[in-house]
Amino acid sequence: MVEIAIMGYGVVGSGVAEVLCNHTENIAKRAKEEIRIKYILDLREFPEDPLADRFTKSFDDILNDPDVKIVVEVMGGLHPAYDFVRSCLLAGKSVVTSNKELVAQKGADLLALAQKQNLNFLFEASVGGGIPIIRPMSQCLAANDVIEIDGILNGTTNFILTKMIRDQMDFDDALALAQKLGYAERNPAADVEGLDACRKICILASLAFGKHVYPDQVHTEGITKVTLADVEYAEVWGGVIKLIGRVKILENDQIHIMVCPMFVPRSSQLATVDDVFNGIQVRGDSIGDVVFYGKGAGKLPTASAVVADVIDCVRHFKARKYLFWDQAVPNYVCDYRKDTVAFYVRAKSEDSAFALGQAEGLFGPVRQLVRKGAGKDEFAFVTEPLVEEDFLDKLEQLKDEGAEVLSTLRIGEF
Ligand code: HSE
Repeated sequence: MVEIAIMGYGVVGSGVAEVLCNHTENIAKRAKEEIRIKYILDLREFPEDPLADRFTKSFDDILNDPDVKIVVEVMGGLHPAYDFVRSCLLAGKSVVTSNKELVAQKGADLLALAQKQNLNFLFEASVGGGIPIIRPMSQCLAANDVIEIDGILNGTTNFILTKMIRDQMDFDDALALAQKLGYAERNPAADVEGLDACRKICILASLAFGKHVYPDQVHTEGITKVTLADVEYAEVWGGVIKLIGRVKILENDQIHIMVCPMFVPRSSQLATVDDVFNGIQVRGDSIGDVVFYGKGAGKLPTASAVVADVIDCVRHFKARKYLFWDQAVPNYVCDYRKDTVAFYVRAKSEDSAFALGQAEGLFGPVRQLVRKGAGKDEFAFVTEPLVEEDFLDKLEQLKDEGAEVLSTLRIGEF
């Protein structure tokens, strides 16, 4: 029998306990050992819980118990999670976590420590919730050089954008609905400002290209400025707006990485990923494009990924799982403005036809987009691909010539 501890009894922690209790026999068959929860760490009281006798408020109970071989960290946040996880590894316990903030900020340190201790530090649930992505990337795609990853990595923002696209709900109403349905946090900033997706693309980038990438190295834009007018123009263009986390390797071995809302063509599989679902497209040099799709959040989907990691740990006590990346290196993340990308622009001018002509003079041939119900002064267009810093210069010139720029979005080529 293997004894484990769960740190944090929120949505994911209680889901992990539920999955382990409801599937005890099958899990024992797959792990080749019975798995028993010995402790649950939480400061709150759960007197009615079927596992009420396992609760503790003291981390030391877990740390000092040599029978606990695996610790599941599902508390979230960096502190005290980082200190707890580090202490567990130093004490000879393998760790499984769903905590994307922890992995995005401290992944290289914790992986190095786990390697030194000959232990496992696994985090399948930190990206894509229940979608298998970390293990497939590190094992099934191991023969490939990854070229690019593009993902819809945040369920809350995908739900909000889906409501805007399908039901013409504006951003505030869609966010309020997401909160009512329990998808968005009460403080939704990490979701809607793109930080959650940023942490996840950092983890995927670190895994795919072997060097740690920190969230503050990644240019990140959320969806708060996306309007129903932009959604309509995307439809006219032939696609939808999605919040995309993207990373690609460049010829000079730097990476280009960013998070931003993008126009996604209807022909792309990512355009069909709706509601709270996530979709991650990985391009490998041998395999081409593969897409991973499923529930990126929620109690049982996330718990399913956590428990699978626990089973993997049990089966690999003596042989460490191969999962590793190096510390960050300087000048590895390129300036995002050096990338070449096409842009959508929505703007206003008293003489919109004249302003559109000026735009063509600046940007070269553009594709004009027209929507029903637009004011006479509104105009919108899509440029040809150009280096982003050139685009920004030209946009300033368009403003100097009198146009009021209302929004700009990048065009994804997936
Ligand atoms: N807030 C996250 C999301 C939860 O909406 O995708 C899962 O990481």
